Amino acid sequence: MCGIVGYIGERDVPSILLVGLERLSYRGYDSSGIAVLDHNELSFWKKLGKLHALSDELGKLTIKGDIGIGHTRWATHGIPSEENAHPHLGPKKKVAVVHNGIIENYLILKEKLQKQGMLFRSETDTEVISHLIEFFLKDSLEDAIRNTIKELSGAFALAIISETEPDKIIVCRKGSPLIIGIGKNENFIASDINAIIPHTKQMIHLDDNEMAIIEKNKVTIKTFNGEIVNKEVQTITWDPVAAEKSGYDHFMLKEIYEQPTVVRNIISKLLVDGKFSFNHLKLSRQELNNVNRFIIQACGTSWHAGLVMKYLLEKYARVITDVDISSEFRYRHKVNGINEIVIALSQSGETADTLACLREAKSRFYKVLSFVNSKNSSMDRESDSVIYTYAGQEIGVASTKNFIAQLVSTYIFTLYLSQIRWTLTEEEIKAKLDELKKIPDYIEKILSETEKIKKIALKYHKCKSYLFIGRGVNYPSALEGSLKLKEISYIHATGYPAGELKHGPLALIDENMPVVCIAPEAETYEKMISNIEEVRARKGKTIVIATEGNTAIHHCADDVIYIPEVSEDLTPILAAIPMQLLAYYTAINLGCDVDQPRNLAKSVTVE
Ligand code: M6R
Repeated sequence: MCGIVGYIGERDVPSILLVGLERLSYRGYDSSGIAVLDHNELSFWKKLGKLHALSDELGKLTIKGDIGIGHTRWATHGIPSEENAHPHLGPKKKVAVVHNGIIENYLILKEKLQKQGMLFRSETDTEVISHLIEFFLKDSLEDAIRNTIKELSGAFALAIISETEPDKIIVCRKGSPLIIGIGKNENFIASDINAIIPHTKQMIHLDDNEMAIIEKNKVTIKTFNGEIVNKEVQTITWDPVAAEKSGYDHFMLKEIYEQPTVVRNIISKLLVDGKFSFNHLKLSRQELNNVNRFIIQACGTSWHAGLVMKYLLEKYARVITDVDISSEFRYRHKVNGINEIVIALSQSGETADTLACLREAKSRFYKVLSFVNSKNSSMDRESDSVIYTYAGQEIGVASTKNFIAQLVSTYIFTLYLSQIRWTLTEEEIKAKLDELKKIPDYIEKILSETEKIKKIALKYHKCKSYLFIGRGVNYPSALEGSLKLKEISYIHATGYPAGELKHGPLALIDENMPVVCIAPEAETYEKMISNIEEVRARKGKTIVIATEGNTAIHHCADDVIYIPEVSEDLTPILAAIPMQLLAYYTAINLGCDVDQPRNLAKSVTVE
């Protein structure tokens, strides 16, 4: 989703902005632009498409100046185009603005400003901001911005520069993340730590309803009402090398191959000396023992992990569990019960819908427990309790290693809860943990069969449509497999509970329809086989994910992918791996941009 970067200092401004934008490009974008102030002269450049279009243009020029802002845009209001790309300027081109988020009342504001005779150059919601700032701009830029903010409803992270005060960048946050990077004789701003981490590790996180006036040697933070806020400078301990491809063609492939290490790492963090270790879990044993219901809310792949978690929480910890897609949870007229806990699952910790639900839940006095991967993200900071998923930085838009990390961390949490609630014995818990510890080796085994999956991907890559089916805990696996395929290969794919096929989707089956059937040894294995036969009877092509040693499966499969034998609860972890590879190689065969699929963003910060 949109990215913001800004710099004030003595280094080459366009280079710092371009490096920052490049490091934000994994979030997904369709156009980019920068604005630079040289003393009190404002210049700007915008380009449609990939960043090299902008850097090629800038490479031909000598640009002076020691202050600038940049943006990668992911279209919400108005098509991807140069006119709609940021920065947006006021009517007199004195002020330049970059914006992440959505201004919900922009049409009303635009109409008012048009009545004042102001002309607009774009179809965006953002342009009302630059116009309003120039409208209010009399003596102080800060006052003009403050007056502008009062008019806006919706979410925003803003960075503004102006010819009238060429020694500062002013940034504001309401609902979209914004970070200030502190340097020596220089300062940075960004919507994502990744953009500025090569330059500084000293960061300040702006909170909602705060603005900052950033000068070369000074950062002043205030509330929107003008009160000074003293904020802690945090030192980021990440290793920027993690953001390199390390010899892999794509981040997605690298992240798929990192999964055994990720699982080992989570186990070592959440199980210390054979004991559960949840350092940031602030819920007491009594609260966990008394919980009557969990309400899980998440989006996309994280929602699929939440669906798996429901099965396990109900089966082992014996707690009623609802799972909502965040954008639905928020507007569902829920009835508050007693001792209910809301669980949020999110890789980024910034997904707007999930964050909005977290806030809504807190406002309705629910305790919120979040499983997040990104430390210091909004969800990390705002949840009552956090369990980190320890996947490491995930760059590929298609979530892979964080899905596995969510499945593993929620599994360990479920066992912890079952211990507290006495719903499993110590022996049962130990046996399950011992089995979990074998998972990294099993994933490595599946990865060693990549060549076989590559061939299957090649065989079916020209098909127009795919179905994925599974039962029980592998119904969410089917949803996840289909999401992976469609988001990076643009092939239409749907996940279904296998038993539901005969209620409609069976009509789609013919000899051109590949059906991925997730059929490991499981309680409903026989039923699953009947469903596979139903597909075969209609000439559908079956790609079956089955348990190693099951030779009989060849009878009803066009292609078989084996996964090692594990208990049913752990099969979603193993089944995900071949489906990730299938999606990856299908997309490669079709020449798709795997790491940055069209129209998608890594971190979805608009509702
Ligand atoms: O950062 P989150 O886990 O909150 O993100 C949720 C979804 O946007 C994300 O899982 C998305 O569906 C991915 N593209 C899936 O691969």
